[in-house]
Amino acid sequence: MGRQAYVNGRFVRHAEATVHIEDRGYQFADGVYEVVTLLAGSFVDEAGHLARLKHSLEELRIAMPVSDAVLKLLMAELIRRNNIRNGYLYLQITRGVAPRDFKFPKKTRSALVMTTRRQSFSPSLSDDAGIKVASVPDIRWARRDIKSIGLLAQVLAKQNATEAGAFEAWMVDSDGFVTEGASSNAWILTKNGVLVTRQADHSVLHGITGNSIEYLARELGVKVERRPFTLAEAFEAREAFITSATTFCLPVIEIDGRTVANGHPGELTCNLRQHYFDYGQKRQDRPFAWPK
Ligand code: PDD
Repeated sequence: MGRQAYVNGRFVRHAEATVHIEDRGYQFADGVYEVVTLLAGSFVDEAGHLARLKHSLEELRIAMPVSDAVLKLLMAELIRRNNIRNGYLYLQITRGVAPRDFKFPKKTRSALVMTTRRQSFSPSLSDDAGIKVASVPDIRWARRDIKSIGLLAQVLAKQNATEAGAFEAWMVDSDGFVTEGASSNAWILTKNGVLVTRQADHSVLHGITGNSIEYLARELGVKVERRPFTLAEAFEAREAFITSATTFCLPVIEIDGRTVANGHPGELTCNLRQHYFDYGQKRQDRPFAWPK
């Protein structure tokens, strides 16, 4: 049947997968999503992604369209049908289809859509593999802990970064602190060897990859501090990197045209990337509790 997608109860040809024009995701961005990595045939941090999905849905009072167990079966079935061992699964749940009206509709069933993408990953990085970052003001709403499909601010941030020759945008709040990347979490390793990333409150998305990276860093004996940091602090950092399901742990070597971390992927960054791969291949599904 070729590439397949899942749309509201059916596996369909990807090219023919469509949703209704009055889906509230299309009209109001009234929905949430997850991106889960597939490594060597298994999902990485599936429990964490499903815990965050539940958090996002609960905060917006959108019902889970299927049980956890059924969702897991559907995810596995889509991967099987597309014959993918390495890549991503994209999953989106909206409040469903209803005549356009801002308040919640009374009887609408939430809508579930899933797609997959094939991608190969490498644990090791060449010496010139670091990415460039461009800073932009963070103009998003106040509930960034919800993985909303309303991503216009991130679209603009990424476009700005691309036009500046950078791979990622680091968004900066009105107090001058970095919140996170447009589609990743932002990290620095200070000169004193402390790993710093923003605390997981409403100001950022609580990254599932970053959560595991923190766990692995602590296992390596690295001190981790969850607090805001400025661009000035990042310019002075020993290392800098981003984390996300699509990039794992990727070194940053330039911010706003200024070289950081000697312009090369840092030792701890590369180490954590390798560890995350090993973890992904061997220890998937570490139990995950959503932080309260
Ligand atoms: N983005 N912060 C933001 C704003 C993100 O969009 C993402 C992920 C992350 C990292 O979260 P995780 O480690 O759970 O992937 C942080 C996904 C990959 C995306 O939108 O494609």
